[in-house]
Amino acid sequence: MFTTVLIIIFVLASSSQFAISSSFATSPSNMGREAEALLEWKASVDNHSQFQLSSWVGNVPCQWVGISCNNFSSISQINLIGSALKGTLHTFSFSCLHSLVSLDLSNNLLFGTIPSHLGSLSELIYLNLSVNHLSGRIPSELCQLTSLRILDLQENNITGSIPHQLGSLNLLNLLSLYSKNLTSSIPVSIGNFSNLIILNLSENKLSGSIPHQLGKLNFLNELYLYNNCLIGSIPKSVGNLSNIIILSLANNKLSESIPQEVGNLTSLWSLHLLGNFLTSSIPACLGNLGNLIILALSENKLSGSICNEIVMLRSLTFLYLHENNLSGSILTSIVNLGNLSVLYLNDNTLSGPIPQEIGKLGSLCELSLYSNNLSGPIPTSVGNLTNLLAYTMEVNEKCDVYSFGVVTLEVIMGKHPGDLISLLSSSSSSSATTSTAHGILLKDVLDQRLEPPRNQATRIVVSVAKFAFACLETNPQSHPTMQQIFRELSIERSPLS
Ligand SMILES: *[C@@H]1O[C@H](CO)[C@@H](O)[C@H](O)[C@H]1NC(C)=O
Ligand SMILES: *[C@@H]1O[C@H](CO)[C@@H](O)[C@H](O)[C@H]1NC(C)=O
Ligand SMILES: *[C@@H]1O[C@H](CO)[C@@H](O)[C@H](O)[C@H]1NC(C)=O
Ligand SMILES: *[C@@H]1O[C@H](CO)[C@@H](O)[C@H](O)[C@H]1NC(C)=O
Ligand SMILES: *[C@@H]1O[C@H](CO)[C@@H](O)[C@H](O)[C@H]1NC(C)=O
Ligand SMILES: *[C@@H]1O[C@H](CO)[C@@H](O)[C@H](O)[C@H]1NC(C)=O
Ligand SMILES: *[C@@H]1O[C@H](CO)[C@@H](O)[C@H](O)[C@H]1NC(C)=O
Ligand SMILES: *[C@@H]1O[C@H](CO)[C@@H](O)[C@H](O)[C@H]1NC(C)=O
Ligand SMILES: *[C@@H]1O[C@H](CO)[C@@H](O)[C@H](O)[C@H]1NC(C)=O
Ligand SMILES: *[C@@H]1O[C@H](CO)[C@@H](O)[C@H](O)[C@H]1NC(C)=O
Ligand SMILES: *[C@@H]1O[C@H](CO)[C@@H](O)[C@H](O)[C@H]1NC(C)=O
Ligand SMILES: *[C@@H]1O[C@H](CO)[C@@H](O)[C@H](O)[C@H]1NC(C)=O
Repeated sequence: MFTTVLIIIFVLASSSQFAISSSFATSPSNMGREAEALLEWKASVDNHSQFQLSSWVGNVPCQWVGISCNNFSSISQINLIGSALKGTLHTFSFSCLHSLVSLDLSNNLLFGTIPSHLGSLSELIYLNLSVNHLSGRIPSELCQLTSLRILDLQENNITGSIPHQLGSLNLLNLLSLYSKNLTSSIPVSIGNFSNLIILNLSENKLSGSIPHQLGKLNFLNELYLYNNCLIGSIPKSVGNLSNIIILSLANNKLSESIPQEVGNLTSLWSLHLLGNFLTSSIPACLGNLGNLIILALSENKLSGSICNEIVMLRSLTFLYLHENNLSGSILTSIVNLGNLSVLYLNDNTLSGPIPQEIGKLGSLCELSLYSNNLSGPIPTSVGNLTNLLAYTMEVNEKCDVYSFGVVTLEVIMGKHPGDLISLLSSSSSSSATTSTAHGILLKDVLDQRLEPPRNQATRIVVSVAKFAFACLETNPQSHPTMQQIFRELSIERSPLS
């Protein structure tokens, strides 16, 4: 929800600029043409949808439901989210809507193809057709939408490849194309998206290798390429993604070793490389990733021992190394990972005793060590782990999330959130008061991290900060579960499901 609010604020702010600069001051006849275009489309949708649009009568569309106009009485926004509209977009004369900056028809029952004449909306900044039944290919004509900042087509039935022509959309901040059936390789023109903040091509059938041009996306905060069929190695150029917070390449067919350059990504909170064919040992350079909260390298072919440098990851809360070919012993220095809540090392070839020190990991609530060559008894110190609720693969709902809250705020703020915590605990337990308190606190937290204007859309920082606050709630019933936290930081299936 916060995401949408942020992005909409962003779009509205931009659209007012566009309204100022728009050269299409609307004459009555122009307004009539715009109204006609909408009425023609209304006539093409099904009965029920026409009922939804019953305010669409006459020739003054600015008053109609879902329609907003600019100061020149020209239609600037169409916003018909979740209105159960059923029909195609084929009869929509987009070319009449010269001033349209925002088109949101998401979460409806639209079907048929995405019409190529959408490309005529040259002022368009925000396009959201997600969650519909649109099919066919992404028309290459969308490359004409050169003002576009947000392009969200996810959850449709789109097929074919990602047109390389989209590389002309160099103002794009967000591109989301999750659609199950997109094929071919990721076009190299992706390197042109120099303003991209979020790229989500997850859950498709994309093949080929990851283009090294990805390294040009300097502002990228979130990259989701998980659940595709990508092959080859992880390009060294990922080391250029200096603002990346979430990097998920999970569940592909990536091979070779994890490049040293990943160690340059010091902004990372969440690194998901699980479910690939990655080989060699875990690179020591990962020890540089001091903000890392989730490290998921499970279900690969990693070998060698778990390097000492891993224990430098002070913020690490989730560590998934299971189903590899890791050997050697479990380091006693693992005790340095004082924030660790979830540790999966099962299905490797680890040997030696389980170190006594594991009992000092006070936040640990899930531990999985089975299917290794470990010897000796289970240390009695494990009995000291009062949070430890599961040795099993089951993701536990009752883990203590308080320490996660503290870690996360510390990562976001770059310092211990002590003052904030005491403020929180002194605020009344009434949820109305606390949420107001959170509103104020969230602003304090974010002001330190988000440097406008570019990082305005740092969705993940905002939503994870909200999660962190929820973890610190005095009422435990308001706490999110460990599983929800994991999902928020990965937006993919849990590595265990
Ligand atoms: C539109 O008009 C309102 C009031 O008439 C004014 O406050 C606003 O600044 C105008 N916006 C633009 C983009 O010109
Ligand atoms: C809905 O459409 C059908 C034909 O498709 C028509 O017979 C019927 O009268 C329409 N109902 C309404 C309420 O317009
Ligand atoms: C697009 O619309 C969907 C459904 O209304 C919404 O959940 C999503 O946040 C929107 N995408 C963007 C980028 O605003
Ligand atoms: C993907 O394509 C296959 C075959 O072309 C089809 O059966 C399936 O329904 C499609 N899936 C989606 C979600 O569109
Ligand atoms: C998706 O498209 C494929 C191929 O065009 C078709 O077979 C399938 O039924 C469609 N699925 C949905 C959910 O529309
Ligand atoms: C990528 O950007 C370059 C320079 O800005 C431009 O010449 C090229 O046409 C763009 N590529 C595509 C596919 O639009
Ligand atoms: C990315 O796509 C997945 C589906 O694969 C979706 O669940 C998720 O909400 C998307 N995330 C963003 C930030 O668009
Ligand atoms: C990495 O960034 C540098 C400096 O911004 C740039 O010169 C170089 O081309 C980038 N490398 C790749 C592979 O994108
Ligand atoms: C990135 O990593 C490589 C290899 O580890 C290293 O040589 C290089 O200096 C790093 N670059 C930056 C900017 O940190
Ligand atoms: C696992 O690693 C050992 C060396 O530590 C190697 O001999 C063995 O072949 C590896 N097994 C697999 C399945 O990769
Ligand atoms: C937990 O993580 C924070 C944030 O990185 C770090 O400052 C702190 O030292 C860690 N706590 C322990 C016990 O390692
Ligand atoms: C476990 O707790 C007992 C007392 O409750 C203490 O004596 C012992 O040192 C603890 N062991 C470890 C490994 O922390």
